[in-house]
Amino acid sequence: MAKNSNLHAAKVAKNDEFYTMLTDIEKEMSNYKDFFKGKVVYCNCDDARESNFFKYFSSRFEELGLKKLITTGYKPEGRGVVLVYEGDKNGNRKVEDEEITIKELEGTGDFRSPECIEFLKEADVVVTNPPFSLFREYVKQLMDYGKKFIIIGNQNAITYKEIFPYIKNNELWLGASMNGANRWFYAPDNYEVKENAAGYKVENGRKMFFVNGVVWFTNISNEKRNTKLDLFKRYSNEYPKYDNYDAIEVSRVENIPMDYDGVMGVPISFLHKYNPEQFEIVKFRKGDDDKDLAVNGKTPYFRILIRRKSS
Ligand SMILES: C[S@@+](CC[C@H](N)C(=O)[O-])C[C@H]1O[C@@H](n2cnc3c(N)ncnc32)[C@H](O)[C@@H]1O
Repeated sequence: MAKNSNLHAAKVAKNDEFYTMLTDIEKEMSNYKDFFKGKVVYCNCDDARESNFFKYFSSRFEELGLKKLITTGYKPEGRGVVLVYEGDKNGNRKVEDEEITIKELEGTGDFRSPECIEFLKEADVVVTNPPFSLFREYVKQLMDYGKKFIIIGNQNAITYKEIFPYIKNNELWLGASMNGANRWFYAPDNYEVKENAAGYKVENGRKMFFVNGVVWFTNISNEKRNTKLDLFKRYSNEYPKYDNYDAIEVSRVENIPMDYDGVMGVPISFLHKYNPEQFEIVKFRKGDDDKDLAVNGKTPYFRILIRRKSS
């Protein structure tokens, strides 16, 4: 099942078309409620007919105290669409069609297009689930424009050479919910899939599938980021040392010793527990010889080298 759903997810990821469930958006956004006050939110990969990001922010516009909500939808073969919502006008606390400004864009609505960059400049924060295949470029643009963001990506993006330096420098971190486990996402109605395919279901008439290793990436502080990881283990010489770096291998995050002052190699799932007050990130993946970290000639899956900060 896991293998099949992996294959399935890979096929879908190639399509870059799957839609986030409202419950997943609600869960993550609940960690930043105070942040949104007075902000312009931009969802730049969001066809408003499909996007629960638009639904989430428009229906909670007053509760969050937003200033403006902009969403742009991409049409590769045509003209994209922009929707602007500036809150409830008639006081009935409902998001109504006449309160939403809808316009066709000049171009496709590509997040890199000049007109979308103008919306980006106006925005305080970008929140969306962008196409995974353009993730590197997508993040770079957000960084170049100095924007705050809460976005969905694949956990593997942590390992990209374009992304990891941001994590190391504490310019980007993982969100508070989703821990890289599989999540259900909506598929487009025209998505072709066999009726009994693994990791696939139809719910309320919508096609849905499981995607592996999905996480939130953000540069906005959240409580989880400020929570210290409880450590229970003490260092012993049972922790192996790397062949090509002066550090110990800690194969499970819960086994990080509380009393080891040197460098430790940990799995990337550590980033779900990473508090920069407690640890610093020293290096990623490679030993002194610039080859993958190895213990007795064996290479564990992507390790992050960290050091405890003195408390
Ligand atoms: C993974 S889907 C997520 C959709 C929506 N944000 C959600 O979570 O429900 C990514 C979306 O990005 C759109 N997209 C693909 N390439 C794009 C581009 N270059 N610029 C803007 N949007 C793009 C796709 O059409 C798709 O709707």
